[in-house]
Amino acid sequence: MTKSEVITKLLPKRRAWPQAAATAFAPANIALCKYWGKRDAELNLPTAASLSISLGRLGSEVTLAPRAGHDRFTLNGKLLAPESSFARRAAAFLDLFRPAREFCFEVTATNTIPTAAGLASSASGFAALTLALNELLGWRLERRQLSILARLGSGSACRSLFEGFVEWHAGEKANGMDSFAEPLAARWPDLRVGLVVLSDKEKPIGSRDAMAQTRDTSPLYAVWPETVTRDLVALKEAIRRRDFTRFGEVAEGNALAMHATMLAARPSILYCLPETIEAIHSVHALRAEGCEVYFTMDAGPNLKLLFRKPDLRSIVKGFPEVRVVSPFAT
Ligand code: DP6
Repeated sequence: MTKSEVITKLLPKRRAWPQAAATAFAPANIALCKYWGKRDAELNLPTAASLSISLGRLGSEVTLAPRAGHDRFTLNGKLLAPESSFARRAAAFLDLFRPAREFCFEVTATNTIPTAAGLASSASGFAALTLALNELLGWRLERRQLSILARLGSGSACRSLFEGFVEWHAGEKANGMDSFAEPLAARWPDLRVGLVVLSDKEKPIGSRDAMAQTRDTSPLYAVWPETVTRDLVALKEAIRRRDFTRFGEVAEGNALAMHATMLAARPSILYCLPETIEAIHSVHALRAEGCEVYFTMDAGPNLKLLFRKPDLRSIVKGFPEVRVVSPFAT
């Protein structure tokens, strides 16, 4: 099945004439139980479900307006070259939805995550782009359907359509109509996420290629889907019971298991830098001293700390550069 076939299923037949402009915001999200491996690369359908936490006001704001001639992209106040990776990926996504072939867009995107925070902005970017398209082109779709469309841009973007804890159902259908994101009802006001930036150097390999290489070559990948299934159940239970120890242990274990599958890929994929290993030891040392902190990490060298409000002081002492997010502040 192609992306266009999915879109024909979801979008209204008679589309409204575009508004003058539309602006939308979507939060960044951090996976606690990771999406790593696809059953369909065209539609970004995952092998297994995943669970994330959205980062409140940290994310992407996108303004879309119709434009004659050609698309134009501005990111954080800078006009982008059409061949830059952001412009190319966004243009390919917009191609799926143009009301007419000659219809072009003015896209103005601003990340409220400082670029130096080392957080991938593609998830919040595609989610905000999808929300802005919904407004501009008058689709009037529900969030669940919008999460299916955002997924076509980048898998993890489907989770950025919601606040708080968000589950992305793997689904079974070939057309992916049952592979959407959905928020959990639970809130955890005490929970904090600490962003620890260790390097802003370019990554050796992007997550899309790394995911495919791991699935295709890692002997450890065989146990990954069942690990995710178990961890997801455990995490949801820990969230329901506010069992922070279990929550942290499972999230940290899941991230390490994902990195273990990558390490065993051939050739190996290693995102950790010496600074990453040092920071992991610091997390373990803080924990041994009684400050309950765990970490998770994605396709990069930076850590995301998980802790609770009463431990803020110890965390800041251990990681003076940490940027702290309260996901349930609003
Ligand atoms: C490690 O969503 O960026 O952050 O679907 O190919 O665009 P594509 O991949 P992407 O992968 C995210 C991988 C991850 C884990 C996660 O967010 O669940």
